Amino acid sequence: MSESSFLELKNVYKYFGDVKAVDNISISIKRGELVSFIGPSGCGKTTLLRTIGGFDKQDAGEIILDNQSIGSLPPEKRSTGMVFQNYALFPHMTVYENVSYGLKQMKVPKKEQHDRIREALSQVELGELGDRKPGELSGGQQQRVAIARCLVLQPKVLLLDEPLSNLDANLRIALREEIRKIKDKLDLTVIFVTHDQEEALSISDRIAVLNKGVIQQLDESDKVYNYPSNKFVSTFVGQANFFTGELHESGGERYLDTGTVPIPIKKLKEKPDDQPKPGEKMTVLVRPERIKINASSPLEGTITDIIYNGNFTRYFVEVEDYELKIDAFNTRDSKQYQTQDKIGIELPDSPHIIN
Ligand SMILES: Nc1ncnc2c1ncn2[C@@H]1O[C@H](COP(=O)(O)OP(=O)(O)OP(=O)(O)O)[C@@H](O)[C@H]1O
Ligand SMILES: [Mg+2]
Repeated sequence: MSESSFLELKNVYKYFGDVKAVDNISISIKRGELVSFIGPSGCGKTTLLRTIGGFDKQDAGEIILDNQSIGSLPPEKRSTGMVFQNYALFPHMTVYENVSYGLKQMKVPKKEQHDRIREALSQVELGELGDRKPGELSGGQQQRVAIARCLVLQPKVLLLDEPLSNLDANLRIALREEIRKIKDKLDLTVIFVTHDQEEALSISDRIAVLNKGVIQQLDESDKVYNYPSNKFVSTFVGQANFFTGELHESGGERYLDTGTVPIPIKKLKEKPDDQPKPGEKMTVLVRPERIKINASSPLEGTITDIIYNGNFTRYFVEVEDYELKIDAFNTRDSKQYQTQDKIGIELPDSPHIIN
């Protein structure tokens, strides 16, 4: 195990019959790190989390936490705390009793129990609702009880399965920040499952993008967004325009010959000495906000559809046989175009190559 690795999975597999829910996953997470798992429904996020927490037993592989192999231990012996996707609260107990449950099992002294429960409930802004039962709470409030129930146990690793999915937009953002604060304060290691790519990009130290039980990329947020390792990652995180063609060079200018729109390419990749050669076939990714609307550009397109998003507007633009997505950032006096408008389009000159 490497020095900086606090939680390590080595070649972990979990099958359900023919379904490879977790397919040879190896991952190494540092102490105090917050790593998000994202991926489409059914890709294995919950199963992976349950396997780490001990609620599912891996078919093969090893799980190491803080230098201890935990793969064969029952959940309560792992120092992991899991918040389930469906909360799994005890319906007949009050909020306070739900949060106290684990502490009672651990035989924590009464006074300490009380202090820790009060603190956990106030951390998730539920200080006033200790006497209610889960059935008397909103979905978001129940979700927060589940988080408090976990925090109160002060686990080494917090496993959160879509913990914010039922909250309204503002509370979601507030709790996101709260989770990061709690993590920093307690030096907690957190695995955070979400469907919401924006949430993953903003809350995580690193993001693991999963598909069909396999990690496609594990990287810092900006790397996943700007340098996705394959087509799946580029479309799962963020919006994408793709161009496929052959690299050409003429008069010192390089461009991608797509058969229709020529894509200018001055520079590719970050490493100047690792440039692709003329004649190479490739697909490049251009994010919508990197395409500019510029009246003096010779490349012309027609707007076919418009989605206004407040801070930016997404234009769907027909250019030859492509339909491009272009995001224009809005200021108060930005020009708003109409469908059927013809606009000049300026493509960025250093797109990212997709393997
Ligand atoms: N107990 C089970 N028995 C049989 N198959 C299961 C079981 N649990 C999960 N699976 C299957 O394993 C795969 C992964 O499921 P999992 O719940 O981990 O996905 P997920 O990424 O969490 O999806 P979602 O985003 O919808 O929550 C799916 O194909 C699912 O049908
Ligand atoms: Mg799930």
